[in-house]
Amino acid sequence: MKKNLQTELIHAPRRAPQYISTVQPPLFRASTIIFPNTHALFNRHWTDEYDYSYGTHGTPTTFTLADNIARIEGGKHCLLAPSGLSAINLVNACFLSQGDEVWVADNIYGPNMEHLRNLETRYGIQVKVYNPIDVSTFEPTLKAKLIWLEAAGSVTLEFPDLVNLVKKAKQANILIALDNTWGAGLAFNAFDFSEEHLSVDISVHALTKYPSGGGDILMGSVVTQDQHLHHQLFRMHAIQGISISADDAAQVQRSLASMQLRYEQQSRSTVQLLKWLKQQPQFIQILHPANENSAGHHYWKEICTTDQSAGLVSVIFKPEYDLNAIRKFCDSLNLFKLGFSWGGPVSLVMLYNLKEMRTLENTHLQQGLLVRFCIGLEHPADLIQDIENALKQLNI
Ligand SMILES: Cc1ncc(COP(=O)(O)O)c(C=O)c1O
Repeated sequence: MKKNLQTELIHAPRRAPQYISTVQPPLFRASTIIFPNTHALFNRHWTDEYDYSYGTHGTPTTFTLADNIARIEGGKHCLLAPSGLSAINLVNACFLSQGDEVWVADNIYGPNMEHLRNLETRYGIQVKVYNPIDVSTFEPTLKAKLIWLEAAGSVTLEFPDLVNLVKKAKQANILIALDNTWGAGLAFNAFDFSEEHLSVDISVHALTKYPSGGGDILMGSVVTQDQHLHHQLFRMHAIQGISISADDAAQVQRSLASMQLRYEQQSRSTVQLLKWLKQQPQFIQILHPANENSAGHHYWKEICTTDQSAGLVSVIFKPEYDLNAIRKFCDSLNLFKLGFSWGGPVSLVMLYNLKEMRTLENTHLQQGLLVRFCIGLEHPADLIQDIENALKQLNI
């Protein structure tokens, strides 16, 4: 039957021939996914991992990326979310109900704490804060449902006593969620990280950082090994309408091939910087898991090596450097750009007020203003030079 041009344009054959093979997988963008017939429509089941039924559920592009993230992290199932924070929120929304108790490390990623405090006010969920380097501060009651771990913790980079925290959580029979953004699935295997084969239940990863690697894409993931847990998360993911752009998924997929090389290079550059920073008289404390004087160093050493320490290092300035001095320092940097996030090619700097960020008293941290450096892919010698020049502006 002869069709009108407009109809022909819409229905023109568009399948690529079978013999075409490309380095990157083809990109599928979809809201609507066309069923071949009613049998396929009526016989699908939501637990089918490859149920191609609607764009929010997933396409071959998003499933390919999800499979690879699960593979990198040593898990079996993965759900993708539009940001790391939305992946965190998915876990909280899925497992916390009124009256539950949730345990959070004092050095957890700030917006996770903020989200939990919001749930506490609105739904009567009790938020309890523990010191990640002192397992005795984690005292779950019968109401405890979930513990959040982060290794190493945001900004102050204490590596937690992962082994004992996980053991204690397992004894208490509560769910264990790890923000695995720092380790990225490369520093250690969250699903098998000790001689006793300890494992977390849920690993959340801000793919915005190392997997994206470009400083230009936002995405998050939730990886599990247990199918029942995955199905619970999968259901919540579906009813909340969480989905990601296929174009973004393709970009992250493209970056995965270089992720380990970048991670290791950024780890090595950061350790080089760490050695230099330790010798500078302006700082009272240098925070990095590979630094023997950093809290949690021996926990880090139990499961990681120097090439696996990510690209973050924080410094605490001596108390004589006030906020104006620290602002001058940050504004004098040239290669380090002032901005949030990490894992991209450009080195970043950010200043923090620790007093506003912590619930517990942190006796292992010196008094002073804190600056965090996120090391990019520039040559470390140039980065050192940049910091040296900015320090010279301080004249104290
Ligand atoms: C440790 C950690 N977890 C989660 C996130 C959230 O990721 P996103 O920026 O994609 O929401 C961040 C972002 O900085 C982070 O540092």
